[in-house]
Amino acid sequence: MIQETKDGSATIYSQQFDETYHSISGAIQEANHVFIDAGFKFCTKKEITIFEVGFGTGLNAFLTYIEAEKQAVNINYITIEKYPIKQEFVEKLNYYTFFEKKYKEIFHKIHAVEWGSDVKISQFFSIKKINADLIKYNFEKRIDLVYFDAFSYNSQPEIWSIDVFEKLYKAMNNNSIIVTYSAKGIIKQNIRTAGFIIKRLKGAAGKWHMLRATKF
Ligand SMILES: C[S@@+](CC[C@H](N)C(=O)[O-])C[C@H]1O[C@@H](n2cnc3c(N)ncnc32)[C@H](O)[C@@H]1O
Repeated sequence: MIQETKDGSATIYSQQFDETYHSISGAIQEANHVFIDAGFKFCTKKEITIFEVGFGTGLNAFLTYIEAEKQAVNINYITIEKYPIKQEFVEKLNYYTFFEKKYKEIFHKIHAVEWGSDVKISQFFSIKKINADLIKYNFEKRIDLVYFDAFSYNSQPEIWSIDVFEKLYKAMNNNSIIVTYSAKGIIKQNIRTAGFIIKRLKGAAGKWHMLRATKF
């Protein structure tokens, strides 16, 4: 079911997880705050490999595309999704309406990319969407930046486990980071146990804190 969030951008309510895909305080606002501002803009490399946990609505990939173009940074975007959303939901997502007209086509191009294929969408942006379970996934590429955008710990504790963070740690380059919207105690503990150094940052609207974890 599609729901409107406070900044006017849409989100999806998942019956399976009894949770929305984004904060109801603002889907675009939250994605920009946590993933673009605290993650993407924090990276200084001119070529960045991003790994996203949960492609979902494609909002983070879409905002990253726009920012990559603005900053002339090359992005290899890898995203994993166990339960792809139906096309009827894609048609109802209004994210491109907040940007220049040309981005409508880009949003739909990102969604149309075949699962498992590495596709160059523009000079600055390539994407590979993987239809698989993160818990069983074996990483193929070295990663610079992780957008950890799973459902909450209460819904999916197995995704926020030490095992998953250890797997990420091994796949990540030195001085690479994970950003996530949650700063729950058990999550901080699991990320630290996997070897990362954590910084707690101001959260997006409706949340006190978020996390940025660095592999030094
Ligand atoms: C909070 S939603 C966010 C999705 C997306 N980043 C967005 O902005 O729409 C979490 C996503 O993780 C996906 N997911 C849940 N369990 C997963 C798993 N084991 N492996 C991969 N993806 C999973 C869900 O289907 C959902 O799309």
